[in-house]
Amino acid sequence: MTRILSGIKPTGKLTLGNYIGALRRFKDFQESGEVFIFIADLHALTLPIDPNDLRENSRDLAAFYLASGLDPKKCTIFLQSSVSAHAELNAILQNYLFMGELSRMTQFKDKSAKMNGNEIGLGLFAYPVLMASDILLYDANIVPVGEDQTQHVEITRDLVKRFNHRYGDNMLIMPRAQVNKVGARIMSLTEPTKKMSKSDPKGDIFLKDDEKTIRKKIMSAVTDMVGKVQYDPENQPGISNLLNIYAALSDITPEEAAEKFKDSGYGDFKRAVADKVIEELTPFKQRYQEIIDSKSYIAVLEEGAAKANAIASKTLKRVQKAVGLLGFDD
Ligand code: AMP
Ligand code: TRP
Repeated sequence: MTRILSGIKPTGKLTLGNYIGALRRFKDFQESGEVFIFIADLHALTLPIDPNDLRENSRDLAAFYLASGLDPKKCTIFLQSSVSAHAELNAILQNYLFMGELSRMTQFKDKSAKMNGNEIGLGLFAYPVLMASDILLYDANIVPVGEDQTQHVEITRDLVKRFNHRYGDNMLIMPRAQVNKVGARIMSLTEPTKKMSKSDPKGDIFLKDDEKTIRKKIMSAVTDMVGKVQYDPENQPGISNLLNIYAALSDITPEEAAEKFKDSGYGDFKRAVADKVIEELTPFKQRYQEIIDSKSYIAVLEEGAAKANAIASKTLKRVQKAVGLLGFDD
């Protein structure tokens, strides 16, 4: 059976970009394969974060996963830090990714460029090693992510080739990234040439925003002087981003959305986009609140950790043996 794995870092308030690019899609895999969805809390430590924020974000993310329609009976939902095999495999795999290739990762270059050179943690640099460990521990075949994470899946593939060449075919299972064409990259509403990002929250819609705030943000989204609703990301990035949002939430293409609104003014079009986003997020937020109030996420995470541990520890053993770490049964 196909294994599907993905995770989100509990680093900030989740955005509409996270929802469209990642969260919303996870549940679709439940019927067709074995799904592992986790909270990448160890990855959240790669940039400075307040412990209380990390705890709150992690709870929120667990509740968001459940609110998005992930069913703990059909999939495994867990905290990365509750499965120690992630850190143990990381300690082995760090020897099979090289400094040169890690220093060329776009995410590392972008994030470290914004920091004081003396305060860039080793964890930020080695981020893809831990991410590879996450993926490879579960023998995942498919990794659904937004566009920005595909490079990290590619480097995981390089690692698998290198490792298997040395220790034997299928020692590690080759994963591949799966990026949805529509909504892979939702842009900021105020700067539509930049990604909507929780680590750089300008022009973001947050999943916890109330209806009024969402409407206000969309109605004041940056557009252009062309005056026609057309899908042209190059020349009309603002309008094209809104079309992408509308299309992703309606399960149609941005071109189809453009056709629908070709005779609308920008005001009417924006109102329709706001309605669509609110229609989707209102019931989602209600479910989220019920889960937070009932604390039902706790049992889910506990059970998920046990299920994940059982699988991860087997893979870890296999790798430990392959590289020559002495076990008690050797
Ligand atoms: P992060 O916010 O980096 O933890 O990302 C969590 C997931 O959301 C990853 O799969 C990202 O690729 C995806 N994602 C983040 N921002 C966006 C965005 N603006 N558009 C589409 N997907 C996104
Ligand atoms: N790096 C991913 C992000 O920022 C989160 C993540 C960590 C992840 N480990 C993963 C995603 C493994 C997919 C598979 O979004």
